[in-house]
Amino acid sequence: MDNDRLQKLLASMTLKEKFGQLSQITGELYVGQIDEEMLETGPAYPRHILDEETIYTIGSVIGASGAETTNRIQAEYLQRSRLKIPLLFMHDAIHGYRTIFPIPLGLSCSWDEQLVQRVAEETASELRAAGIHVNFSPMTDLVRDARWGRVMESFGEDHLLSGNLGRAMIRGYQKILRDGRIAPDGVAACLKHFAAYGAGIAGKDYNAVDMSMREFFEFYGKPYEIALQERPKFVMSSFNTFNGVPVTASSEILKEILRGQYGFEDLVISDWGAVTELQRHRVARDGKEAAELALGAGVDIEMVSTHYLEHFEAIVKERPELLEDVDTAVMKVLRLKNELGLFENPYADEANEDEVILNPISLDLAEEAGMRSCVLLKNENEMLPLRPEHRNIVLVGPFARTRELLGNWACKGRFRDAVSLEDGIKQADGSLSVDAFGTLEACPKDVLDRCDYIVVAIGEYWEQSGEGHSSVKLELEEEQKQLVRAVKETGRPYACVCFSGRPLALQDIVDDMPALLWCWYPGTRAGSAVAKLLTGQSTPAGKLTMSFPRVSAQTPIYYNEYSTGRPANASSYSSRYQDCDIGPLFAFGHGLSYAQATYSDFAISSSRITETEDLKVTFQINNPSHYEYREIVILYIEDVVSRTVRPVREMKAYRVVPVPAYGSASVEMSISLEDLTYLDADLRKTVEPGEFRVYVNDLEHPIFTFEY
Ligand code: NOJ
Repeated sequence: MDNDRLQKLLASMTLKEKFGQLSQITGELYVGQIDEEMLETGPAYPRHILDEETIYTIGSVIGASGAETTNRIQAEYLQRSRLKIPLLFMHDAIHGYRTIFPIPLGLSCSWDEQLVQRVAEETASELRAAGIHVNFSPMTDLVRDARWGRVMESFGEDHLLSGNLGRAMIRGYQKILRDGRIAPDGVAACLKHFAAYGAGIAGKDYNAVDMSMREFFEFYGKPYEIALQERPKFVMSSFNTFNGVPVTASSEILKEILRGQYGFEDLVISDWGAVTELQRHRVARDGKEAAELALGAGVDIEMVSTHYLEHFEAIVKERPELLEDVDTAVMKVLRLKNELGLFENPYADEANEDEVILNPISLDLAEEAGMRSCVLLKNENEMLPLRPEHRNIVLVGPFARTRELLGNWACKGRFRDAVSLEDGIKQADGSLSVDAFGTLEACPKDVLDRCDYIVVAIGEYWEQSGEGHSSVKLELEEEQKQLVRAVKETGRPYACVCFSGRPLALQDIVDDMPALLWCWYPGTRAGSAVAKLLTGQSTPAGKLTMSFPRVSAQTPIYYNEYSTGRPANASSYSSRYQDCDIGPLFAFGHGLSYAQATYSDFAISSSRITETEDLKVTFQINNPSHYEYREIVILYIEDVVSRTVRPVREMKAYRVVPVPAYGSASVEMSISLEDLTYLDADLRKTVEPGEFRVYVNDLEHPIFTFEY
């Protein structure tokens, strides 16, 4: 459809039809209960306004999927709606649709934008085959507090990495063609949750956020700012209040910052029920006031609650100036539907769905991504990988046999498609004898007697992280600690494999773990991915993107905290806890590999940076092992003296470097003047003359200093 026809279509719409396009509901209203193909991801809200006529003005549907189901809904809708504007279907495929990839926090530990993009590309193909047009992903909320259950959906605590990985995901979902349109197997991305949703006070979900604008523009806002450069079609406004105003009602956040400063031009959608929740925030007296506030603040589409449709007449009567915004938003919706080709063909190809879903390329990618997400946190005496003499393996713990390794937000992933650790190890090396048990007591004495290696599979169950799953306790459950100690008592060599959606606090058990492989939730190919690492067919090489606290109460904890006047040290007059060691148990950027590569030949191009010349930091990575792998290299700077206090370290560059077996790789990283800028006391971008230190893969020991 050309622009003229779209304009004509808009002109032919009643006000109700326009507000219908700006409303999103769940799909069962059209075809009755759709159990299997419907995901409810929030509470129910009254929707009495949705009478027989009104539901045929609606613009989009959330949570229904599957080619047959979405086609059924679409057909029913198109048959009965006056203008026959096809529905958009939207979904939450946070780390895959049916093929499930590692949780985003796991993916981020690969630090690999290309890998993340490929994951998003495969996810988009499955989504589109299943009739979905818009994905509520990526989430680039910056996170520092592992109590928040949604850290699993994030890319960790660094703003630069989070922004870049979010960008890569958007690129992968949208598959923008040369002519600027979304590819036929791409979906529109929705960047969320704008803004600062990850900073809820005390790690409680949906909680208020209170922060300085410096903190926002330098850290929490940055990942969105970076990801927005990839032009996602949607941004989701967040549930939280920001400095006293719910974002859903904040034109400062949604207009001045999102559109004004960050240049976003497309559609803003509320979060689930967030418009009606303005009443619970107690900034709106009733549904009408809630709708008026949200609309006025720049929320284009209301998700799930229905106050726009209920009160639009009164609202536009009182505030006719909003009509222009309404037309602009509706036009964007129509354009997107047009760009997706829905006016020509609103249906998914049912014959194609089976071929695309769980296809071998996606599954292989899930395995690769699963491996690349794992982080080897400890490996005393090279307990891992298994050695040739380890033939009789006992696998024990609550995660030994389960297929529930998809993680939360697993969309349409099915446990029955997933590979358990037990099956993964058996498939990885058929010559091993593997016996798996939920507990050590269940293991017969003769099996234990003849076993020569124990793998302890423990962690936090998948339902314990994700939306609405904040926790005060990040320690492993008591039974699992007892299991680790009991395994130690056997005197057999052993290693621990841990699954979780967040960093856990392991201080009281870590000394009993000679080797610890952190697997997050790896997805459909979990068992195969982890088994390849345990058996040494590949080396773990992931690095942490979130600091691990020693004990729960050490959260929030993150590497780039501000310098204090009394840095933590042995004295009690310093910034530390009296009953806890200083610093995290495992720091941001930590991660071992079997390769044990060394670094050499460090050089810096100059001891002075200028406006015209970047600094080049170069070095060699030497790999003495037979593993061909990718080494993650992270560069930090420290601003030695500045007028406004700076973080102790700031990550400025990273690389994922392919390293050949028994070979070496040369690395070059640059630092530009832009990297040295920061916001001064008046929030103006500034760069000050002075000394800077450079750190590579190590937060403690600088390798160079330079000056500006
Ligand atoms: C609420 C969540 O905050 C958001 O991330 C999600 O996209 C919506 N529900 C829709 O399921």
